[in-house]
Amino acid sequence: MEINPATKSVGELALEVPHAISVFEKWQIDYCCKGGRTVAEACDAAGVNTAELLQEIGVGRGAAEEGRQWQQETLAALQKYIVETHHAFTRDILETLVHLADKVAMRHGPRHSEVMTVQKIVHEIYDDLIPHMLKEEQVLFPYIEQMEAAIGRGQEPPTPFFGTVQNPVRMMMAEHDAVGELLSKLRVETKEYALPEDACLSFRALYERLGDIEQDLHTHIHLENNLLFPRAASMEESVRPVPASSKGNGNGHDHGKCGCGCSH
Ligand SMILES: [Fe+2]
Ligand SMILES: [Fe+2]
Repeated sequence: MEINPATKSVGELALEVPHAISVFEKWQIDYCCKGGRTVAEACDAAGVNTAELLQEIGVGRGAAEEGRQWQQETLAALQKYIVETHHAFTRDILETLVHLADKVAMRHGPRHSEVMTVQKIVHEIYDDLIPHMLKEEQVLFPYIEQMEAAIGRGQEPPTPFFGTVQNPVRMMMAEHDAVGELLSKLRVETKEYALPEDACLSFRALYERLGDIEQDLHTHIHLENNLLFPRAASMEESVRPVPASSKGNGNGHDHGKCGCGCSH
């Protein structure tokens, strides 16, 4: 979604993008009584950078990303972008989702049993994604950056403790699939996020925000599965051919080498 901050009013944005409300609240931007001001005017008055505010709300990110030719940028730049936009957005929205899911389950669980399942799945997504992003940020991404820098200097990259990037990559991709399945389950359980007639604002916000995280994860996972991981794997192979036994589609994954921290 792209908006023009010079013409879009904060009141309109609050209506069109529910998450905007919590960002406006955070920066003390009045979207009710002064909802007629443009986003640019309101940001000026509040002393907030318009582009940063829009990024925090999550609008304009898709357009900015489409404009970037990731194939021509370094893997370090792509990883930085993923962490600063998608990981930051995911952490933020997960906190909101857990809070909303607990609240809606408590209030509406007795009449709408599906919200109890939604609450359980939201907690599972949280428990999956928070450590997943940490593993990317602390294990896989730093190694990819180190490898790219070494190759850039014409040096042999160090051998990682997990053997080859293909090991953690397989683990990350399996975890992406697992979250994708949880999101599909949510769509089934909620009948495509169909709201009951008595849905309160929190109920509505919960379903809207679930749609938001799903949409963001599509882009996030696309950047990792289709761009970052294949480029990192072929970069590694260009300097250090990977034994055939380490390649594959995730079957036969060796947890002892993957760096995922699991105990199997
Ligand atoms: Fe990620
Ligand atoms: Fe990931």
